[in-house]
Amino acid sequence: MALLWKLLVASAGIALAVYFYTGQDDFKPEMLKGKRAIVTGASSGIGEQMAYHLARMGSHIVITARTEEKLRKVVSKCLELGAASARYIAGSMDNMEFAERVVKEAEKVLGGLDFLILNHIGLTYFNYFDGDVGHIRKLLEINLLSYATMTVAALPMLKESGGSIIVISSVAGKMGLPLTVPYSTTKFALDGFFSSLRQEFYFQKTNVSITLCVLSYIDTDSALSIVADSIDTRPASKEECALAIIKGGALRQREVYFQYWFTKIPLLLRDWAPDFLDSMIRKDYNMEKIVKH
Ligand SMILES: NC(=O)c1ccc[n+]([C@@H]2O[C@H](COP(=O)([O-])OP(=O)(O)OC[C@H]3O[C@@H](n4cnc5c(N)ncnc54)[C@H](OP(=O)(O)O)[C@@H]3O)[C@@H](O)[C@H]2O)c1
Repeated sequence: MALLWKLLVASAGIALAVYFYTGQDDFKPEMLKGKRAIVTGASSGIGEQMAYHLARMGSHIVITARTEEKLRKVVSKCLELGAASARYIAGSMDNMEFAERVVKEAEKVLGGLDFLILNHIGLTYFNYFDGDVGHIRKLLEINLLSYATMTVAALPMLKESGGSIIVISSVAGKMGLPLTVPYSTTKFALDGFFSSLRQEFYFQKTNVSITLCVLSYIDTDSALSIVADSIDTRPASKEECALAIIKGGALRQREVYFQYWFTKIPLLLRDWAPDFLDSMIRKDYNMEKIVKH
């Protein structure tokens, strides 16, 4: 165990050094000025905050989610903050025709695309797996297939602009967390789809970057309402998280880890000491607070 700890500390040191000394300071807000972006799931939470950051940086923004009233408010705040333009398209991502339509309408109003930011998630539960495979299928449509559909529709524009796809995932898409079976399934699938596609882009000389964002627990209303009582970790700020994502995407980073300590560092253990990592994860959960189905 002592050797394991030494290895872990050494690896963490190297990882932190790489993190702090590889281009973190190259970001400039002007990089986003006049850029054309679609942000999904932008009526609340991290997506809403990403829209505000892009607005302050002077981007053209098309946002989408289901709730029109919330989207209207986000658009008017984006315009106040300095967006070059801001529009919304309301609808549900369980419908692939809608997913495609968002891209086509954005093309009409923006005349092209620089950033496709895929962030929305469907509603699920935080509890023991209830055996409902139909729910997993439905969640895969919203959390994975609509991402793939929008990517396919946006690729011609992104190739033209040398643009970027930013995919919002989670630690639950990199390692096994309890109580998130359907959600985790969809987030692992995103890694498979986009990591494989990134490799193909290399062979095809496709100048489109893919940034997969691996997030820890963030203080959005939905996350707080679902998990606050059940896990001991303190959530990170949604505003800071949104900025880290925008920076990583603009710098065309392969992956963004936020918060670093709660994502990248535990992941160093995943392939070397998986049982140890699993037991560390379990320590954060107050399972007595979970009301079983
Ligand atoms: N917060 C965290 O702790 C955390 C941790 C790790 C990863 N993440 C990831 O970060 C991203 C954002 O999470 P968040 O906490 O900001 O979530 P959130 O506040 O609940 O926002 C989810 C967004 O998705 C939209 N949405 C829900 N169902 C939809 C549907 N069927 N079709 C289209 N849009 C739909 C919601 O708007 P409407 O209801 O109006 O449609 C909302 O705008 C997600 O990908 C999540 O997995 C979050």
